[in-house]
Amino acid sequence: MNIDQIRNETPNCRDKIFLNSAGASLMSKPVMNAIMEYLEEEETIGGYKLEEDRADQLDQLYLHAAEMLNCEPQNIAFANNATDAYSKALSSIPFEKDDVVILSDDDYVSNYMHFITLRKRHKILIRRIRNLDNGDLDLEHFQKLVQTHRPKLVSVSHVPTSSGIIQNVNAIGKICADNEITYLVDACQSIGQMPIDCQAIQCDFLSATGRKFLRGPRGTGLLYVSDRILFEGNTPLYVDLGGAEWTDVHSYQAIKSARRFEFWERPCALIRGLSEALRYANNLGLERVQKYNQTLTEQLRRNLSELKDVTVFDRGSKLSNICTWKKEGKSLKATKDHLDKNDVFYSIVDRNSALIDFDKKKVDWVVRFSPHYFNTKNEINQAVEIVQNL
Ligand SMILES: Cc1ncc(COP(=O)(O)O)c(C=O)c1O
Repeated sequence: MNIDQIRNETPNCRDKIFLNSAGASLMSKPVMNAIMEYLEEEETIGGYKLEEDRADQLDQLYLHAAEMLNCEPQNIAFANNATDAYSKALSSIPFEKDDVVILSDDDYVSNYMHFITLRKRHKILIRRIRNLDNGDLDLEHFQKLVQTHRPKLVSVSHVPTSSGIIQNVNAIGKICADNEITYLVDACQSIGQMPIDCQAIQCDFLSATGRKFLRGPRGTGLLYVSDRILFEGNTPLYVDLGGAEWTDVHSYQAIKSARRFEFWERPCALIRGLSEALRYANNLGLERVQKYNQTLTEQLRRNLSELKDVTVFDRGSKLSNICTWKKEGKSLKATKDHLDKNDVFYSIVDRNSALIDFDKKKVDWVVRFSPHYFNTKNEINQAVEIVQNL
């Protein structure tokens, strides 16, 4: 990893300590250039003509995404964000009364809200996988849940928004595949910070966002859809003329590829940006990205937890680039003011985003630092020193 080159291509990382790639990361120059160049051309000849002229270039999105996720371009749909991708996937599953879905305690807040709606509308039942003492998912418990309930769906967030754990999505996927259970993975926080292999995970759907560790623009996301789901004919609840052909007054024919999960109108300039972000990350190599990032985050966690009155909350046998912490005796306002004054960029995660996890940890809010490969060890040391002076 050529960190100097990466930092030169991320010019705005130098005047601050940017530790918020789990929120919305800094875009690289190639990503910005691709968006601006496309918008300028749109301004000149109009969006429809340009989309026609640039069809091949826009289609590169599917190639780069397929390379990143180890699948074929036909398994990829563009989405406006991760929630858009997730909810469209969910809406293609014909839930009925008493259908069981299995979730984890650390799944994303909006995903949970979707299931609350499904519970109200379709009277589905929600079961949750227990955690082991170290924070990992209890796979034996999961096996038992599967055998007892024969669930319609299993869904897990690969990396939660509110803690550093990396869930064992491959082990969950194997059990789902052995039992022919539909499996939906939320990879919103993992994409761009580690390799993701949809064949190894054996998922049916995988949702992701563009703006976080992938370093794409806001307003972009991806949905992976497996061959099985495409073959079985699942379509989102509301398909539009981009995803299907109106063949008869009372019927339509969905297109073959995952693009049946897209709507016709697309933000083409942002698609160019997302495509560049995927290409950029693929070129760096996700194994290398993860390896470098691990050195940063291990240093961060170790040094923060050595500070007086600081608690680091991340638990699990495998940890990601998300580091959550809090300093005892310091209010939310005092913490924010101090970090802001010192040009540290971060997020606060509050209890409403992680109800189950935070009630177990007995916290109302935590600070989330999320370094990425454009950060340096020196910046991590500076950030720790700033927390020490809080
Ligand atoms: C784990 C996880 N899933 C899903 C989402 C939702 O992503 P988006 O805001 O792109 O819809 C987030 C956002 O923070 C997240 O952290």
